[in-house]
Amino acid sequence: MGKITASITGIQGYVPDYILTNKELETLVDTNDEWIISRTGIKERRILKGEGKGSSDMGAEAVKGLLEKTNSTAEEIDLIICATATPDMIFPSTACVIADKVGAINCFAYDLMAACSGFLYALSTASKFIETGTYKKVVVVGADKMSSIVDYQDRATCIIFGDGAGAVMLEPTEDGLGIQDAILRSDGSGREFLHMKAGGSVKPASYATIDAREHFVFQDGQTVFKSAVKNMADVSGEIMERNNLTADDVAWLVPHQANKRIIDATSRRMGVEDEKVMKNIEKYGNTTNGTIPLCLWEWENQLNKGDNIILAAFGGGFTWGSIYLKWAYDSNK
Ligand SMILES: CC(C)(COP(=O)(O)OP(=O)(O)OC[C@H]1O[C@@H](n2cnc3c(N)ncnc32)[C@H](O)[C@@H]1OP(=O)(O)O)[C@@H](O)C(=O)NCCC(=O)NCCS
Repeated sequence: MGKITASITGIQGYVPDYILTNKELETLVDTNDEWIISRTGIKERRILKGEGKGSSDMGAEAVKGLLEKTNSTAEEIDLIICATATPDMIFPSTACVIADKVGAINCFAYDLMAACSGFLYALSTASKFIETGTYKKVVVVGADKMSSIVDYQDRATCIIFGDGAGAVMLEPTEDGLGIQDAILRSDGSGREFLHMKAGGSVKPASYATIDAREHFVFQDGQTVFKSAVKNMADVSGEIMERNNLTADDVAWLVPHQANKRIIDATSRRMGVEDEKVMKNIEKYGNTTNGTIPLCLWEWENQLNKGDNIILAAFGGGFTWGSIYLKWAYDSNK
């Protein structure tokens, strides 16, 4: 018997219909289309509208589509891990809500919070349950309704974020495909540069925190930018080296979509050509835990069995990491 590895056997994304364009942002804050495109590469983002709608609604839509594509039933799911920075509520977990919405009655479910690196952390965690032979079908969801924590009076942050979700199915294989390696890192001393000031146990919600607009994303853009470029490139380089991969061996780089300039700087430092870099930031902005699965979903038809794929992310915490996987199926055949 070969070694058991965890393969992605299906991918599904979900983005809400409403399109928030740069033009519309011009009506909300002092900004302009040209500045946003040249500094971030973003033209539009999706926004989840509707009373009572949260991250779980987008995550559940992605999981429903995933079950259909993988010919799986909700009852067969052993575990759902939802990576999110915008849970429906602090508790219960959004993963529990998603499980209920899709009818996954035989699984256990929990959330994982690592800001924009959450999807990678969750994918790596989930892969261990498969590799040890513990479970057969694990669903990893990345879902964020960033519009719920974005201050549409703050031009430095409101231009960046959007809403969206994606989900992958992980199953065991013995053919050597699937997740090969992961390097995950964190450094909590970076917390002051990217965080939400209030609403947690240190500073619970009060009239004062609301008046001070502290329930929104706060970001020191330049510090985050520099750290993201350095750490995403370093960790991706490290995973290539550790697995004896040259840039030619890499079929696709799937970077977290935070800023087109961060993506370009990372791929340049890795030596990976632009044609092999998945980028959809132009349409969706930074959907936090949604970015990587949304890319895989949109590129699915171009992926071939055996393709070497590098995933890379950076986010609040600071958190960052890279995963090397071999794509497990021919999506276009
Ligand atoms: C936020 C970000 C786009 C800002 O770009 P930048 O090139 O660093 O811009 P700066 O913050 O240096 O601001 C430059 C100028 O543009 C202005 N500016 C900021 N936002 C603006 C906007 N939306 N429209 C127009 N001008 C803007 C600033 O006020 C500043 O003006 P000043 O020079 O008169 O003070 C960039 O720092 C970034 O992408 N950071 C990382 C974000 C990220 O990845 N976050 C998520 C991590 S997972």
